[in-house]
Amino acid sequence: MNDSDSSPSPRPVRFRNPRAAHNFQGRTCSIVGVGSYVPERVLTNADLEKMVETSDEWITTRTGIKERRLAAENETTSDMGAEAARRALARAGVSPEQVDLIIVATVTPDMVFPSTACLIQHKIGAHRAAAFDLEAACSGFIYGLEVGQQFIASRTCDTVLVIGAEKLSSIVDWQDRNTCVLFGDGAGAAVLQHRPNTHGLLTVCMGADGSKGDVLCLPAGGSAKPASPETIAQRLHYIRMDGRETFKNAVQAMLTAAREAMDRCEVSIEDIACIVPHQANLRIIDAVGSRLGAKPEQVYVNLHKYGNTSAASVAIALDEAVQEGRIRQGDLVLLVVFGGGFTWGSAIVEW
Ligand code: UT7
Repeated sequence: MNDSDSSPSPRPVRFRNPRAAHNFQGRTCSIVGVGSYVPERVLTNADLEKMVETSDEWITTRTGIKERRLAAENETTSDMGAEAARRALARAGVSPEQVDLIIVATVTPDMVFPSTACLIQHKIGAHRAAAFDLEAACSGFIYGLEVGQQFIASRTCDTVLVIGAEKLSSIVDWQDRNTCVLFGDGAGAAVLQHRPNTHGLLTVCMGADGSKGDVLCLPAGGSAKPASPETIAQRLHYIRMDGRETFKNAVQAMLTAAREAMDRCEVSIEDIACIVPHQANLRIIDAVGSRLGAKPEQVYVNLHKYGNTSAASVAIALDEAVQEGRIRQGDLVLLVVFGGGFTWGSAIVEW
């Protein structure tokens, strides 16, 4: 933690809009390293054909997903998150001891408590770091970036690790073809720091609509309906989703969030080098991209390999886009997400 910052002021903000000004009242916050991890085991659409009444053709045309990764039985959300974190820290050239705060976005914590963030803190040896979990379903990574950014801007922390990690295979109903074909496991991480003369996160937008909570949820296992033989018999400890309703809301909310972020920064879609959307369904991604007026080559897609990994999704996609050279220094990147809650969010990052 650092109270005195003698670094020179960043160069003048490139995009001037009073609504974005709050981002620059404190220190700026950059993503100085990203990393991700996906488990080895691959579950293909052909494998799923043997498990439920479905087909590769249906899954591919309705979702764009061809395969997903599944964690090993003894592999936990914190194991995957820790590995993604180690990779992000290595790329950033930051040691675990430098980390002041760990934020883990997940709906599949290893256990109710202690937090997965605390488990990861121990696994990576980030002994100085405070640690907590954040739950905003598939939008959790963007929420985490905003929370982390505020700690950097306020000078409360110098280094924040934001992780999205999920073992969704542990809450998927493998008898429900409506949902089991959609999800996968994995983790992604970002290291946040202030870097003089750079802007990094230009803006982050977040939103929620709790009236739609039951459209996409896990009904039992919380304090409202503790796990019991009855909840298990009714399969209430698995993901429930009204797919059509979620789809409709996802397209609208992601569009609105993307436009709000661009509006705040006074940039248009042509200024964005790479859009990294939540990887839930290719038809959602295509609908959002085309309504924003984006060219297909501006939009990063990897859901054919991993399916929907919830809070890890955009973090894994961001890392892969960077490693593949789709995002370069100085590029403007638009992140946009949607998930259970409902929750949504967007961010524009100057890379
Ligand atoms: O991460 C949070 C965000 N999550 C999302 O954004 C997911 C949003 N929703 C979706 O991606 C899509 O709604 C789904 C992929 C889940 C479903 O696609 P859809 O085009 O909305 O299909 P549908 O729910 O309208 O179902 C069409 C038909 C149904 O049969 P009937 O009732 O028309 O006879 C389903 O029973 O497809 C059937 N179906 C399947 N058939 C083969 C549903 N799942 C399957 C399946 N294989 N796996």
